[in-house]
Amino acid sequence: MAASPNFFYSLSLINITTILIILSLSLNAGNSRASSPQYHSINSASDNSTSGKHHHRWVGPSGHRVITVDVNGLADYPTVQAAVDAVPQNNMKNVLILIAAGCYIEKVVVPASKPYITFQGAGRERTVIEWHDRASDKGADGQQLRTYHTASVSVFANYFIARNISFKNTAPAPMPGMQGWQAVAFRISGDKAFFSGCGFHGAQDTLCDDAGRHYFKECYIEGSIDFIFGNGRSMYKDCELHSIATRFGSIAAQDRNLADEKTGFAFLNCRVTGTGPLYVGRAMGQYSRIVFSYTYFEDVVAHGGWDDWDHVSNKNKTVFFGVYKCSGPGAAAVRGVSWARELDYDTAHPFLAKSFVNGRHWISPSDA
Ligand SMILES: *[C@@H]1O[C@H](CO)[C@@H](O)[C@H](O)[C@H]1NC(C)=O
Ligand SMILES: *[C@@H]1O[C@H](CO)[C@@H](O)[C@H](O)[C@H]1NC(C)=O
Ligand SMILES: *[C@@H]1O[C@H](CO)[C@@H](O)[C@H](O)[C@H]1NC(C)=O
Repeated sequence: MAASPNFFYSLSLINITTILIILSLSLNAGNSRASSPQYHSINSASDNSTSGKHHHRWVGPSGHRVITVDVNGLADYPTVQAAVDAVPQNNMKNVLILIAAGCYIEKVVVPASKPYITFQGAGRERTVIEWHDRASDKGADGQQLRTYHTASVSVFANYFIARNISFKNTAPAPMPGMQGWQAVAFRISGDKAFFSGCGFHGAQDTLCDDAGRHYFKECYIEGSIDFIFGNGRSMYKDCELHSIATRFGSIAAQDRNLADEKTGFAFLNCRVTGTGPLYVGRAMGQYSRIVFSYTYFEDVVAHGGWDDWDHVSNKNKTVFFGVYKCSGPGAAAVRGVSWARELDYDTAHPFLAKSFVNGRHWISPSDA
C-alpha cells in the first residue's frame, strides 16, 4: 500500500494540556460504581450492597427536574446552553432537558460539575444542535482551537444521556491533504455516558470518543476521516457508520497508549455504509484496540482494511484489531492484514456484551 496520506497525521497535533487532561480523566475512570440515573431510581432504595466495599461510598442522584427548551421561545429556555447553565454546580438530581424539534445553532458545554443530565430530542431528524468550528479557526485567545476544542457539543460530566437528537459540525468537508479542517460534532469526556437514537454528523473527526465508558445504541455516525476517535472505552451496538469519504477515509482511530489500559472501541451488530475506500480502523495509540463483531460491511473497505497510522513505530505488533463473524461484500477486506485477527469465540467474548463498559452497573436492561 502507498504511504499514508498526509492528512492522517494532522490529528496527532494535540497540545500537551489536552493530553494531560485525557490522562487524568482516564485514570479517574473506573473507580465509582453505581447505576445510571433512571436505573438508579429503580434500585437505589434496596441496593445497599456497595456500602462497605469502598472507602468512599457512592451517593447517587435523588429527585428529578425537567427543563424545557424551544428554539421558538415556547419553553423555559430558547437555547440548550441556557438550560445547562440553569443546572446548579455539583448537581445531584436527574435533570431531563427536553429539547423541542428545531435547529439549535450554538456551541454547548456540559461541565464536569453537572452530572446526571439527559438531552432528549424530538427525534434525530427533528432536533439538531450544530456549530461549525474547525481546528485551524482562532479561539478567543487568538490561538488555533485544535481538534478537541472544535466540538459543537462537549460533555465533561459523568452520567450524561442523550436520546433522539442529532449533533452536527457543519464546517465544509476537507479535500484530502488539507490541514486544519478537523471539525468535531460531539465530544464525550465524561464517564458512563449513554446514547440512544442519536445522530452525529461531520466529516473529519466527527465524534470525539475521548475518555470514559460509553454506550452508543442505534446511533447514526457520519464522517470521512477518523470519524470516531479518542481513547474512550466504548460499545457501539446496532449503529450505522456512514462514510462520506471522497478519495480515502477511515472509520475509527483509537488512542489506547498503554498495554494495560481497558479502553477500546467494540462495534457490535453495526452497518458500515457510504463511500470509500475506507480503512475500518487506525492505530492512533500504540496499543490501539478496535473490534468489529457481527457487522455488515458494504463494498467500501480499502485494500488491507486497517492502517498503522505512521509506519514507523511498529504499531502493527502492539495493536489489537479484531473481527468476529462479520458479513457483507466488504467483510473480506477487513481481514486484509495479518495483524488484524479473525477472533475465536473466547477472544471475541469480552467485546460482545455491555460488560465491556461495566454496563451492568449503570445501563438498565431495557436500554442495552
Ligand atoms: C446501608 O448500609 C449502611 C452502612 O452499612 C447502614 O447504616 C444502613 O442502615 C443500610 N441501609 C439499608 C437500607 O440497609
Ligand atoms: C426515540 O425514538 C424512537 C424511534 O422513533 C422511539 O421509539 C422512542 O420512543 C423515542 N424515545 C424517546 C425517549 O423519545
Ligand atoms: C509492520 O510495520 C513495519 C513498519 O513499522 C513494517 O516494516 C512491517 O512490514 C509491518 N509488518 C507487517 C506484517 O505488516
